[in-house]
Amino acid sequence: MAHCYKEATTVVHGNHEKNPSGALATPIFQTSTFVFDSAEQGGRRFAGQEGGYIYSRLGNPTTSVLEKKIALLEGGEDCVAFSSGMGAISATLLSILSCGDHIVADNTLYGCTFSLITETMPRFGIESTVIDLTDEAAFKGAMRPDTKVVYFETIANPSMKVIDIEAVAAYAHKVAPGCLVIVDNTFATPLLVQPLSLGADVVVHSATKYLNGHGDVIAGFSVSSQEIAGKVRMVGLKDITGAVLGPQEAYLILRGLKTLKVRMDTICANTLKVVEFLKQAPQVDKVFFPGLPEHPNYETAKKELKQFGGMIGFEMRSFEESKKVLNNVKLCVLAVSLGDCETLIQHPASMTHSMCTKEEIEAAGFSDRLIRFSVGLEDADDIIADLKQAFEAAEA
Ligand SMILES: Cc1ncc(COP(=O)(O)O)c(C=O)c1O
Repeated sequence: MAHCYKEATTVVHGNHEKNPSGALATPIFQTSTFVFDSAEQGGRRFAGQEGGYIYSRLGNPTTSVLEKKIALLEGGEDCVAFSSGMGAISATLLSILSCGDHIVADNTLYGCTFSLITETMPRFGIESTVIDLTDEAAFKGAMRPDTKVVYFETIANPSMKVIDIEAVAAYAHKVAPGCLVIVDNTFATPLLVQPLSLGADVVVHSATKYLNGHGDVIAGFSVSSQEIAGKVRMVGLKDITGAVLGPQEAYLILRGLKTLKVRMDTICANTLKVVEFLKQAPQVDKVFFPGLPEHPNYETAKKELKQFGGMIGFEMRSFEESKKVLNNVKLCVLAVSLGDCETLIQHPASMTHSMCTKEEIEAAGFSDRLIRFSVGLEDADDIIADLKQAFEAAEA
């Protein structure tokens, strides 16, 4: 039985298994295929009668170390790594859902996930009902005894909505016993919340963000029971998407993960200071942050999250002012993505959520004035000074 370390230790050591070579850093097994001792052994591995590696799309020693560490962090039995967050999301959903199935999803989702669920999956006969999962009546009305999946994000992109995982999972499992609750934990990371411990069945991640944390890798994970992960690996990864993570990227994420705890602590502390500044800035009309008492899901956020995270949304008084802020920052970097060392600033309506209609954007609770802000590791005073000068420039 694995020793259960505290999270700051787990991000550094995982299960503290030593590499047989004695290497401290996990070696990069840059190989596509693995040599069998005999034809019989190859046959046994393919038949699942013997462990061991076959081909890197099915498993690789560098990636396996990473998968075990992520499973530990999320409190899941197993993890499957992917070459992107969308790879993880599409492979997980398509491993579970078939033609004729029904999915209930929250209406505030990362744009590509939203179009996958509302446009692509219906092309394959998978019916989707998209509602606000914080609206209890709407959720209960949408659930059916044959609903196969409920899907949402822990801190939803980009309005920072926080859904009560425990309540949603309990109700979904009650009315639809075979239903799997799938949660995208990208914004929160397992350090702020472990959705599986609250009743979710699967956690997916864009590891491109905080888990890697250095803006140099695109990757994703799907974490669950061994049974579900086996299906995700052997159907969603092996056959449907083939979206396998390369060993170089696995190594970089293992390296990035070692500082996840210190990065998240600093980012969360910086974020509280930035929010305080935004709240009193006369040019800012509205701040979206789950740690603010006026945020509609503040009570859920307080109950569910260990810290409130590093993502902020804010709306200026007009679209023009929002645009000018984006064009006048000097330190903060105008780029999509999030969770990096650098503070990143972007405009969801014309960038990450540009595939959503005006009505869908309104239903998700934001407008074209919204700026999304991923607080980085710089000194909070410098981030605030940069925003202040950009706000003044926007007014001029
Ligand atoms: C919440 C969330 N989930 C999933 C994704 C997709 O991840 P990737 O870009 O790694 O495919 C993103 C990307 O921004 C995201 O913000």
